[in-house]
Order: sequence, then C-alpha cells, then structure tokens
Amino acid sequence: MKEILVSLGEKSYPIYIGENVLKSVDLFSKVLNTTQVLVITNTTVEKLYAKLLLDTLNQYDPELYVIEDGESYKSLDVINDIITQLLQRRFSRNCIIIALGGGVVGDISGFAAACYQRGVGYIQVPTTLLAQVDSSVGGKTAVNHALGKNMIGAFHQPLAVVSDTTVLSTLPDRELVAGLAEIIKYGLIRDYDFFCWLESNINKLLARDNLALQEAIERSCINKAIIVAEDEKEKGLRALLNFGHTFGHAIETGLAYKDWLHGEAVGLGMFMAAEMSHRQGWLDRESLKRIESILSKVQLPLVLPEKMLDTDMRDLMSVDKKATDKGLRLVLLKEIGRALVTSEYEEQYLSQTLNHFREAAR
Ligand code: NAD
Ligand code: GLY
Repeated sequence: MKEILVSLGEKSYPIYIGENVLKSVDLFSKVLNTTQVLVITNTTVEKLYAKLLLDTLNQYDPELYVIEDGESYKSLDVINDIITQLLQRRFSRNCIIIALGGGVVGDISGFAAACYQRGVGYIQVPTTLLAQVDSSVGGKTAVNHALGKNMIGAFHQPLAVVSDTTVLSTLPDRELVAGLAEIIKYGLIRDYDFFCWLESNINKLLARDNLALQEAIERSCINKAIIVAEDEKEKGLRALLNFGHTFGHAIETGLAYKDWLHGEAVGLGMFMAAEMSHRQGWLDRESLKRIESILSKVQLPLVLPEKMLDTDMRDLMSVDKKATDKGLRLVLLKEIGRALVTSEYEEQYLSQTLNHFREAAR
C-alpha cells in the first residue's frame, strides 16, 4: 500500500492507495475515532461494494444512506435529505461520514459534512479513476445550482482518502478513459517525467494492469497534494489544475451536460489548449504531436461534436471562474510539464484555434 500526505498543518491527511484496502479494518481504525458512522453511496456502487465496506466497519455499527446515481442528484435537495437523515438518526457533531463512490457521491458527501452542525469529519473512499486521482483529494465539495455547476460549495478537507484500486475492475471503459484524461493532465501541467512514463505505460493502463494503475494514481495524487498544500483555496497555483477545463466546460455547456463525460470534454479541451499554445509560439510542434498521440491512444475524442458547430464556443468560454475584469484567463503550455495561467495571450490565436477545430469537425 502507498501512503501520501496532503500537508495542510492541522488539516493534513493521508491518502492510502492499494489493492483491497477496503477490507482493511486496521486502516479505517487509524482514522475513525467515533462510534457514529454514516456511509453514503449511490445505487450502482451500493450493489458492488457497500457490503464489503460495511463488513470492514462492522465494529462501528455503520449506517447506510443511498442516493440515486447521476450528476442531476448533486443538488441541495439531496443535501437536505442527508441532513434530515443525520438528525433523525441522532448523529452528533462527532460523527463521521464516509463517501463511497465516484466524484458525485464524494462532492455531495463532502458538502453535507461541511454543513452538518457547522462541519463534521468525512473520509473519501473514491471508486472511479477520476475520483481517485482528482476529486477525492483537495477538499473541494459542492452541489449544482440550476444556473451553474458546482455553484454551491465549500472547501472542507477530508480526514483521509482510501483508494482501493481493485474496485476499478468494474468501472465502465469510458469512465476509465475519462480518469486517464485527468492523469495525463498532471504530466502536462507540471511533471514531464510522469508524462514520459505515461507514454511508455499507456497500454498497461488501458489493460487495467493493477501495478501501473497504482503508480499512475500515486503520481497523480503526489502532484495534486503538492499543489493543494501550496494553494488550498485556489488563490493562484491551483488554477493550473483547470488545464483544458475552460475549453472543456464550454463543450459540456454546449452539449447541455449530455453525451460527453467531463473527462472526455477535458481531454479535447487539453488538446485545444495545446494547439493554441503552439499557435502562440510557446509549445513546439513535436510536443503538440506527442500530446495528440497519447490522447488518441487512450481513444479520447479529439474532434468537436457536430452539435457544437452552431455554438459560439468563445462566448461560452467567457463564463468561467478564472475570468476576471482583465478578461478571460487560460491555462496554456510553455512546454510539456510547464503550464501557466495567463490573460497575456493573443486573442487572434484563440479565434484561430476555435476555427481550426470547427473546420476539422465539418
Ligand atoms: P460519477 O461519480 O458520476 O461516477 C461515474 C459512474 O461510475 C457513475 O454511474 C457511478 O455510479 C459509477 N461507478 C462509480 N464507481 C464504480 C465502480 N467501481 N464500478 C462501476 N461503476 C462505478 O463520476 P466521476 O467521474 O467519478 O465524478 C464526476 C464528478 O466529480 C462531477 O460532479 C465533477 O463535478 C466532480 N469533480 C469534483 C472535483 C473536486 O475537486 N471536488 C474534481 C473533479 C470532478
Ligand atoms: N479539480 C480541480 C481542483 O481540485 O482544484
């Protein structure tokens, strides 16, 4: 088992990564200093892994709360239901919530933990690749508002993250690939050696080789832990984690959050940001080709969906949390492994990039 520390003073916490860690009574005992435990999961993950986890937690007499599966349940209504359950079951301020599931379950459970009695502890038990390398680490919790994704939330760090790589065996292929997009992101923004490792090991990752997955998750979490430790509340550096996201969010919004997974939109978004970095004169052609090659090997879509052809993508991109009074800021690449957040780019290169991808999709 690997252990990584997210170093945040008294809010520091461990990330445990390994095979069958869900079965480790000792591991959970290190973190659970309570007798009141609520496990939150969804209907899909419940069938697969709830019994396993409840058995491991047997000595705490854990209770279970199951939500429906889907992004549309990431809502204040579901938070209200969870709070009602916690009150009806007489959960005190010392209770601990355990989020068993992908990023949706993690974000909801973390936000419920942030709100209940002004904040209780929670543990992330991520079961998708995306959640194991990204959403479970760093304490961003949120639910959606009808007018915007993740618009109601809080920074609330978990007590621990427990990532069992065995559970990835049941993950649908598309979800695995969406997680790989976020893994490739770490190589691109700050870890050239990791990018080279990914180029050499991509087939093993696609074949779900457990050791390769463990290494990719560990190296991703190390990168994220360093960024979060330096900039917990996204005052600067943490914005690099949004590489590909401004383009990607515009695609997701243009598709009304249907058809494409978040990781798929981010994958194409990263390719578009790389193309623009090249046009800007920063990223060289060979690096651009390497980025295209790894993204296409994992079979991420690299062409805009037809539905986007009539959409003003530039307009959608301006609705972005990184936009300031100085205009839209973008995460761009100077080279593979070196990204920057900047509004100092030529608008013409952004237009050219958007036109280039629109033409390629015709
Ligand atoms: P998800 O939680 O919807 O999970 C994807 C699908 O996989 C679901 O149908 C789920 O039931 C299923 N699933 C989960 N584990 C499984 C397993 N082991 N085997 C089989 N099926 C399984 O999606 P996601 O990609 O994990 O997370 C996306 C969410 O994460 C979005 O809401 C996004 O906003 C959020 N997010 C948050 C952060 C953050 O920092 N908090 C970062 C990135 C994304
Ligand atoms: N997923 C982006 C972040 O955690 O900041």
